[in-house]
Amino acid sequence: MDLHQKVTIAFTETFGTAPPLVVQAPGRVNLIGEHTDYNDGFVLPMAIDRGIWLSLRPRDDDQVSVHSLDFGETAVFDLNALATQPPAGSRQKQAQNANLREVGVWAEYLKGVAWALQEAGHTLRGWEGVMTGNVPKGAGLSSSAALELATARAFQQVSGFAWDAAQMAKLSQRAENKWVGVNCGIMDQMISASGQAGHALLIDCRSLETQSVPLPPALDGSGTAVVILDTTTRRGLVDSAYNERRQQCEEAATYFGVSALRDVSISQFLAEADNLAPLTRRRAKHVITENLRTLNAAKAMQNADAALLGQLMNESHTSLRDDFEVTNEALNIIVDIAQAQDGCFGARMTGAGFGGCAVALVHEAKVASFVTAVSDQYHQQTNRSPKIYVCQPSDGAAVIAQN
Ligand code: GLA
Repeated sequence: MDLHQKVTIAFTETFGTAPPLVVQAPGRVNLIGEHTDYNDGFVLPMAIDRGIWLSLRPRDDDQVSVHSLDFGETAVFDLNALATQPPAGSRQKQAQNANLREVGVWAEYLKGVAWALQEAGHTLRGWEGVMTGNVPKGAGLSSSAALELATARAFQQVSGFAWDAAQMAKLSQRAENKWVGVNCGIMDQMISASGQAGHALLIDCRSLETQSVPLPPALDGSGTAVVILDTTTRRGLVDSAYNERRQQCEEAATYFGVSALRDVSISQFLAEADNLAPLTRRRAKHVITENLRTLNAAKAMQNADAALLGQLMNESHTSLRDDFEVTNEALNIIVDIAQAQDGCFGARMTGAGFGGCAVALVHEAKVASFVTAVSDQYHQQTNRSPKIYVCQPSDGAAVIAQN
């Protein structure tokens, strides 16, 4: 049973009638452009065919009531009460303690989106429904952005305001930053809001302009597949390491007298490199070269050049490993194994790092042997069984059924 059916059936069982509305929002995988979004730079993610499904109907009052099939819990809240909730600080502590980012207290994401929409001046109507999802939690595939954007879609439909993908992404990011208390950039929400089937999206994280680029074919004209390799390692304290990287990037930008590292060219960087403290130099080098790699990767995709895209992915991993220092041993091992396989154009860690997933671009005809080889060799070297997902580039948050 697919998840659309699952939330439809569960809704019908709960409310005694078919759902008038089903919405869906996807998780994502980033092909290249890592730790660039909060430097106003470029990212190249795609929405994946895994996400959050929500079946719902409007209510006549200001209550929101959602049953999560996955958590086996029902969250109920009053839209009028959100303005008087405790400040984000307390939730931030909860988030750090309970790793709220991906697990537990899921209802805060719905409340946070409602709060941000209301703060932006939208008049919201209550609704009730059922939700489920299949983005692995805590793996770095943005189950939280999927939840936020599915929630935004639900409110947009029942409250009747226009859907502006970039605005919904910004408000969802605000919910995560200010309500949940996680200091993420804009990438995850932007791609969950505006993904396009068959394509990755080059996103300018300053202007929020997007350009869709197709997955490149292999040289022999066959297709290529995006394969997600979950190391199954998770690192606690990700938030503090992430915030530390952000701060180091800000320090580097201040040195160059610009608002963000996006504004430093490679020649400016090279001219000053010797004057920078070694750590700042490495962090800045990653961001500045990653922006260039990302723009080149988008061009390679437009030129149907899978080999160049793969090479840029490999270079990105090296930079994240050596200069930005956000990989762990498991990520380095799985990426090395992936890169060595026949039919693999390139592989790199993806997402925030410190654990979680890598992404590989693989010749379509070699996917099955690639999956087996990576699984076996990774298990031999680490004693862990990876989870591997072959993903389709998919559409962003959408209404998928309306009666
Ligand atoms: C996490 C954040 C994103 C981005 C990536 C790193 O996924 O949520 O905003 O910063 O890390 O590229």
